[in-house]
Amino acid sequence: MTFGLSTPIDLVRPARIVFGSGTLPVVQRWLDEQGLTRVLVVADAFNATRVDLLRLTGTVSVFADVRPEPDLPNLEALVAHAEKVQAQAVIGFGGGSAMDLAKLAAVLPGSGQTLHEVVGPEKVAAKRAALIQVPTTAGTGSEAGTRALVTDPATQNKLAVQSLHMLADIAVIDPDLTLTVPPAVTAATGVDALAHCVEAFTSRKSHPAIDLYALEGMRWPIRSARATISPMAPPMR
Ligand SMILES: NC(=O)c1ccc[n+]([C@@H]2O[C@H](COP(=O)([O-])OP(=O)(O)OC[C@H]3O[C@@H](n4cnc5c(N)ncnc54)[C@H](O)[C@@H]3O)[C@@H](O)[C@H]2O)c1
Repeated sequence: MTFGLSTPIDLVRPARIVFGSGTLPVVQRWLDEQGLTRVLVVADAFNATRVDLLRLTGTVSVFADVRPEPDLPNLEALVAHAEKVQAQAVIGFGGGSAMDLAKLAAVLPGSGQTLHEVVGPEKVAAKRAALIQVPTTAGTGSEAGTRALVTDPATQNKLAVQSLHMLADIAVIDPDLTLTVPPAVTAATGVDALAHCVEAFTSRKSHPAIDLYALEGMRWPIRSARATISPMAPPMR
């Protein structure tokens, strides 16, 4: 089957994506607009030390223990924490690991559903808290998507949950937050972004409506790498 412009495609993205330097205050403004005051921030150890950057004014609880490539026990600790605080809004503040766990924290606590019951597409019963995503790495794109990945330590498989209920209500992307990322993580996330785009462009299910993002997305990491390795190289188009 060849995929053309008339091939059906279902595109989802957060209702609001705010991008740019200095956009972080939008988070509290949005909470005020929605009248949400009880907030759970889901962060890794590094980002937990700078939650003050979000300038949250409500009742704030921070889960500060998201591990890279989070596993089931890490998720279970978060769900137990979330069930105690019963937040009205969950903020994912970190890289893909924090944002993936934030998605699950917006749907699992108090639902009676376990992770294994929601693995796969559209098994989640409902969204139970508003979801705000604030990425601090570049590359996973988790802030804009509907999937969360959690490693099962028993099998070392990554369990993938996909649900429209895990789509962020708003994503606030301030690139200044990435300036503290260690070089190895910057490189790994750049390769992650590149791989996502190559995959989308070369997939048998590639679609013209996605190709434009994939092609531009492939140019950016290559441009940055060329500028770093060889600053005198002529610019790419
Ligand atoms: N849901 C999706 O669509 C999707 C897509 C790709 C990857 N993922 C998942 O994302 C995870 C990987 O995410 P990642 O690559 O963003 O890394 P990460 O979230 O695991 O973070 C990696 C490390 O960088 C640190 N860190 C994060 N932001 C920082 C900052 N601004 N300054 C300093 N240190 C910082 C963290 O503390 C952590 O130690 C994996 O679990 C992967 O499965 C999800």
